[in-house]
Amino acid sequence: MDDKGFVWWKRGIVYQIYPRSFQDTTGNGIGDLNGIRKRLGHVADLGVDAIWISPIYPSPMKDAGYDISDYTGIEPIFGTLADFETLVQAVHDHGLKLLLDFVPSHSSDRHPWFQAARSSRDDPKRDWYIWRDPRADGRPPNNWLSEFGGPAWTLNEATGQYYLHIYARGQPALNWRNPEVRAAMYDAMRIWFERGVDGFRVDAAEHLTPDDQLRDNPPRKDWKFEDGPAQSLHRTYSSHQPEGLKIVREMRAVAEEYGGRLLIGEAYGELDEVMMYYGTALDGFQLPFNFKLIEAPWDPSAIADYIDIYEAALPEGAWPNWVLGNHDRNRIATRVGAAQARVAAMLLLTLRGTPTIFQGDELGMVNEMIPEDMLQDPWAINNPGTGLGRDPVRVPIPWDDGPGTGFTTGTPWLPLSSTTPVTVQANDPGSMLTFQRGLIAMRRSEPALTIGGYTRLHADAGVLAYARRHGDRTINVALNFTDRPQPLPCNGTPLVSTHGDFAADGELRPDEGLILGA
Ligand code: GLC
Repeated sequence: MDDKGFVWWKRGIVYQIYPRSFQDTTGNGIGDLNGIRKRLGHVADLGVDAIWISPIYPSPMKDAGYDISDYTGIEPIFGTLADFETLVQAVHDHGLKLLLDFVPSHSSDRHPWFQAARSSRDDPKRDWYIWRDPRADGRPPNNWLSEFGGPAWTLNEATGQYYLHIYARGQPALNWRNPEVRAAMYDAMRIWFERGVDGFRVDAAEHLTPDDQLRDNPPRKDWKFEDGPAQSLHRTYSSHQPEGLKIVREMRAVAEEYGGRLLIGEAYGELDEVMMYYGTALDGFQLPFNFKLIEAPWDPSAIADYIDIYEAALPEGAWPNWVLGNHDRNRIATRVGAAQARVAAMLLLTLRGTPTIFQGDELGMVNEMIPEDMLQDPWAINNPGTGLGRDPVRVPIPWDDGPGTGFTTGTPWLPLSSTTPVTVQANDPGSMLTFQRGLIAMRRSEPALTIGGYTRLHADAGVLAYARRHGDRTINVALNFTDRPQPLPCNGTPLVSTHGDFAADGELRPDEGLILGA
């Protein structure tokens, strides 16, 4: 808490590290914990406040680590517990916070809990997962679909029952209605808090307590193939059940035992569903992720409207947050193009609320083509020839222009990135990296940008402009979403431009974003 009552995560910026693709130090082509430590300078130089590391726990890697077989260990591919302890220290020495991923909705099918549960209907761990008899004709208990394609149920022949998996077969859903599950998972959280982590990003929280009557999900009329296989049904009964919030509150209580560590929740949903996770007494997640900038069309009026709706929907005292990309969604520079990616970065870093930057977006990384024989993502592998899947956004960070782009001396687990590497961008005053470093420095130096209020100034088909105010300081932000010049709808002394230099008064150049001191 600083002198104005703002905890670090309200002023701060979160940087997501996807460990498999950050830095390899062993030559096996997969990033590791020592690699993260080696590259902390890059993170600190960028000017962010916290890193969130995607899962580093023991895992058969059926879903790139989101299938966990031991909630309190370290996956040997990534290193050892000693490496982790050294990393925690190094992160803190850099003045940064460390958030881990916590994946409560499902374990791996290799977790000893599931191995026991599947062994017999009478096993004491049986009820730690969600089992049901087949329907009379042998089909799965209901119509729910796996997010990665196919039914959300797999038959365990030995015991004659199906188990639920909202994701891959290797990710059986844990039964959070069982108090023993809750106690075991909260103990896992405590172990990591004791080891010094400053919080968690909580994975797939919308799936914590699927309907216990297992009612069929209704079909969706507006479904398009690109939405993904599971989206052909509304998730009325499988997701966002009110009981899930009770669990989130209990998780928060555990975080409070350690002086209010941070919980950021991942729960894709409608606005009211996302807002639910703050908790009516702000006793849920401090930050339920707000993914609208990922989902919304790249249109200034639509975005301006959403900002107003989101701000208005926040419970009293709740803190906003914004996200442009992550390891599951197309790269922003691919969605909107290189020029608009700078405008997008300026939007992310000047809105009111905590921003999360996905590793590589500070470089303008793009989706890469992945040859079929290199696909890793179960979503892609289960849906061959469809172009679905998340590997294109997960390729390694290009650190330099040497072999393996400085990421690995071995064969990388995914193809290398075509983006200009860090070392080259760092020496180029016109690069995306230099721009984002300047933008973050500006955000840090202006309380109006970190903790100030937000007011919409202008939104039409081409330009979004808003003011951020703190005390008697006003910062105006004007963003040109088009590749044509546009009139500048607000005043002030230019402080930062996406274009590096400043042009004539009264105009925004094509694809230009401007921060002005008013
Ligand atoms: C979350 C993760 C995603 C993972 C899924 C299942 O959405 O971000 O990568 O596949 O949960 O754990």
